[in-house]
Amino acid sequence: MNDAEALKKIAGEAACEFVKTGMRVGLGTGSTVKYTVLELGRRIAEEGLEIVGVPTSIATQELATEVGIPLVELGSLDGLDIVIDGTDEFDPNFQLIKGGGAALLREKIVAQQSAAMVVVADERKQVDCLGAFGIPIEITPFACDVTVSVLASLLNCQVELRMSDSKHILTDNGNCIADARIGPTITDPVATEASILNVAGVVQVGLFNNMCDAIVLATTDGVTTLMKPNGRL
Ligand code: 5RP
Repeated sequence: MNDAEALKKIAGEAACEFVKTGMRVGLGTGSTVKYTVLELGRRIAEEGLEIVGVPTSIATQELATEVGIPLVELGSLDGLDIVIDGTDEFDPNFQLIKGGGAALLREKIVAQQSAAMVVVADERKQVDCLGAFGIPIEITPFACDVTVSVLASLLNCQVELRMSDSKHILTDNGNCIADARIGPTITDPVATEASILNVAGVVQVGLFNNMCDAIVLATTDGVTTLMKPNGRL
């Protein structure tokens, strides 16, 4: 395991401290939170942890099933106690860019139904100003090129549809996904989120504002948990 992977594992596993028996847990998507899912599976098998999970992607659903986490439909619950998820960037105000793994729509639906959100990250995700990563935007297949042009004009930057073998990459929801290469310039992520959501054809945007309560951050010096002041945890 290389250093970057080791940091993901440390963060992913450490976040399990937030999970207690009886909780309804949102299970995020990505290569960091994968270690959270694996550790929760281990605790269920070896320590008698009792939880139910709601996955945010087909990939997480498959992994969680494999490791024995009981899964339920989000609609069958009256909300979730916590969601643990990865991020592509986080800023000093705990605002996030997510969607590098194209799961942003389900991730945001689950996060909005959760009483608290814990993010797992390594130090490469910590930024002063959001935007170097590029903002993932899920858009309808209908007239997706038009939507991309509108977004490029609105944001005054390059917006690229994700492609594979000359075909649009589709999300778990059957939509296209694009990335807005805006650069590290997002000083008002709430306003940027609102303006992108206002474009017809946009299904959801990977700016997660005022959702994250804690960040379990793995660095080469060890793991530390950043708690949002006046957050929900
Ligand atoms: C998927 C996501 C991921 O949580 C995000 O891309 C971080 O992934 P990783 O832990 O693999 O870097 O938002 O849509």
